[in-house]
Amino acid sequence: MDTVISLQAVHKTYKIRSGLIHALHGVDFEVQQGEFVALVGPSGSGKSTLINMITGIDRPTRGEVYVAGQRLTQMGEDKVAGWRGKNVGVVFQFFQLLPSLTVMENVLMPMSYAGTYKGQRQERAMELLDMVDLAEVADKYPSQVSGGQQQRAAIARALANDPPLIVGDEPTGNLDSVSAGLMFALFEELVAQGKTMVMVTHDKDLAGKVPRVQEVRDGLLLQASEVDQRLKATHQA
Ligand SMILES: Nc1ncnc2c1ncn2[C@@H]1O[C@H](COP(=O)(O)OP(=O)(O)OP(=O)(O)O)[C@@H](O)[C@H]1O
Ligand SMILES: [Mg+2]
Repeated sequence: MDTVISLQAVHKTYKIRSGLIHALHGVDFEVQQGEFVALVGPSGSGKSTLINMITGIDRPTRGEVYVAGQRLTQMGEDKVAGWRGKNVGVVFQFFQLLPSLTVMENVLMPMSYAGTYKGQRQERAMELLDMVDLAEVADKYPSQVSGGQQQRAAIARALANDPPLIVGDEPTGNLDSVSAGLMFALFEELVAQGKTMVMVTHDKDLAGKVPRVQEVRDGLLLQASEVDQRLKATHQA
C-alpha cells in the first residue's frame, strides 16, 4: 500500500513576544492510502499545527514532511500552494471562505485555479452544493448564511477538485448532530472510494466510528495502543 503522509521527527516552534511555544515535539506520523484517521486531543495540543504541516500551509521548524510523494519541506510556497490546490482538499477550522464571493463562487474558485473546463465548473459546483444541501443558498454571501452552512460550503469547496487526500480541521464542529452525521457519511463514502481522510474532531461519537484514532497530547502523538487502552477504560467506566 502507498504511504500518502509521512511526517518524520517534525518539530514546530512558534516565536512569541514572551518566548517560544513548542507546538510539536518531534512527531512521526504515517498514513497509508485509503486510511481514515481521526486526530483527537485537548485544545492547544497541536492538532491544527499538525494539520498545517500535512497541507503545507505551514512548515516545520525541524523534520521532514512528505505528502503524496512530494517533499513539502523542499518546495517553495507557491509551488506548495499549486500542488495543494489539485491534490489536497482542506476544510479549515474557521472555514476561511472568501467573504466577497458567493457560496457558489467559493466552490468554483479551486476549479478555476486548477484549470477545469469552464462549462464543467458550474455543473460540478452545483452537484457539490446539492450534496451538502446548500443549493438554495448558492447565491448568498458567507455572511448571509449560518455557521453550519458556511461549514458545509467549506466542505463542498474542499471536494471541488476531487482530491485524493482530504484533511479536515473539525469539519463538523459547527454542525448539529444530524448534519454532522450526514457529512461524516459523505467522508466514509469518499474513503470507500479509495480516498484518504484525516480529520480532527472533538466529537467522541464520530471518533468512535473512525477506524484509526490518533491522540495528540502536548505536541506529541500517543501510540495507538495507548489510545485503545484509554478508550477501553472510558467504556468500562
Ligand atoms: N501562529 C501561532 N503563533 C503562536 N503560537 C501558536 C500559533 N499557532 C498555534 N500556536 C500555539 O501552539 C499550540 C498548539 O496550537 P494548535 O492550534 O495546534 O492547537 P489545537 O490542538 O488545534 O487546539 P484547538 O483544539 O483549540 O483547535 C498552542 O499552544 C497554540 O497557542
Ligand atoms: Mg485547532
